[in-house]
Amino acid sequence: MKNRIFIFDTTLRDGEQVPGCQLNTVEKIEVAKNLENLGVDIIEAGFPISSPGDLKSVQEITKVIKKPVIAALSRAIKGDIDAAVESLKFAKRKRIHTFISSSDIHIIHQFKSTREKITEQAVEAIKYAKKYAEDVEFSAMDAGRTENKFLAYFIAQAIKAGATTVNIPDTTGYCLPSEFGAKIKYLFNNVPGIEDVIVAVHCHNDLGMATANSIAAVQNGARQLEVTVNGVGERAGNTALEEVVMVLKTREDLNTETNINTQRIYPISRLVSGLMKMPVQANKAIVGRNAFAHSSGIHQNGILKNRLTYEIISPQEVGIKESSLALTARSGRAALAHHLKRLGFKTTPQKLDQIYQQFLVVADKKKEINDNDLRMLMGQSASETGAKIVSIEVTGGFPAKPHATVTLSIKNKIITQKADGNGPVNAAFLAIDKIIKKENKLEEYLVQAVTRGIDDFAKVHVQIDYKGVVYYGLGVDTDVIVASVKAYLDVLNKLK
Ligand code: KIV
Ligand code: ZN
Repeated sequence: MKNRIFIFDTTLRDGEQVPGCQLNTVEKIEVAKNLENLGVDIIEAGFPISSPGDLKSVQEITKVIKKPVIAALSRAIKGDIDAAVESLKFAKRKRIHTFISSSDIHIIHQFKSTREKITEQAVEAIKYAKKYAEDVEFSAMDAGRTENKFLAYFIAQAIKAGATTVNIPDTTGYCLPSEFGAKIKYLFNNVPGIEDVIVAVHCHNDLGMATANSIAAVQNGARQLEVTVNGVGERAGNTALEEVVMVLKTREDLNTETNINTQRIYPISRLVSGLMKMPVQANKAIVGRNAFAHSSGIHQNGILKNRLTYEIISPQEVGIKESSLALTARSGRAALAHHLKRLGFKTTPQKLDQIYQQFLVVADKKKEINDNDLRMLMGQSASETGAKIVSIEVTGGFPAKPHATVTLSIKNKIITQKADGNGPVNAAFLAIDKIIKKENKLEEYLVQAVTRGIDDFAKVHVQIDYKGVVYYGLGVDTDVIVASVKAYLDVLNKLK
């Protein structure tokens, strides 16, 4: 029988602690509903003592969420626990999660206390929380840097006091996977009563080892993983939900199962990234935009023969429609032929050879070859290949109302449209939407400085959802508005 691993999501607590990522109550409820549909077992909805708004949000979440347990965080202090109790009063299934540090670094320098006093405080807090909830989780903060012998004693006292889940956080992301796995094993061998509770781990990613440490813990008996969507969280973040879930699913030899519907992973990643205004790095495992994009000729050739050659997960398994084969100067004939076929062009091996040589010349100049470039290579004229900028004029600033006038050339026709917006980029995009009527949802808009300095180029990346398929566009210019419009047209010109 497989070992069931419980997924405890703390996107709304540890994840939301990040500056600039705060969500309002309505947004938190939307994330919570999506977490419920994803199948997480526990949602840590907030830290109610931190603000009346946070307490209220936890309460509102408990009113709409039915299946997962809702946890509220509290320090090992009565007032904190009272706030957690108040926030959970409507919950169908509730958990009080209380914590205090166990490492000497924290006990001496932060708490200016002793191991004995901290243990007493932990025990008292757990007993107090037990008056209000049967389900009490206790976390030994900075357990990763806590001496194992004391940690075993500390956890044993927490279990005796009534904790039903004991959490071993690697709060500073310091542990090596072998060391963290050995710590969990040590606790299983040295803590009386540990087999009667759930052992959880909560790893941070300061050295990029959060996922590896969580998996090492599972291999040594941990049964609850504390995670966030996209790995958002304090500093370098928490363990990424999508990573551990897909490790457990992909590596069947671990003999574990979760309740996660993995096809909902990508949609919730986009949702959280959008609401928290936190872009996902392109090469992020599982959910980054390059996670299923193959660019070298050898890899593309392999994928076209059998996707198992270079893909250990199918994109559909995590809710992504399809893998992509980017056309760059590193691509081979196989990928070029694949894309030409997709666009409806018929080629002979000789013709492909000839087009491939021209393709390499263009690809050396342009970073990525798009469908319009391919059409041009196949002899269609520029006027047949999508929209081009003729002129853009925008006004903005304060208190002026942002406005744009955009003129495009499409198949030799010149079309002008005007629009107001909430900013000049928005106004320009709305004007374009009036010209190119392809209703879509802008999922991501990202501006990056290419080099440094005030005379820099802006590189704009846009991502849109059109009829359920995600498309990307890029634009570069010294003018951020022009770069934005180029990126938007780049993506619109790709729509099928
Ligand atoms: O990182 C940490 O130790 C925490 C605890 C509150 C569980 O977030
Ligand atoms: Zn944390």
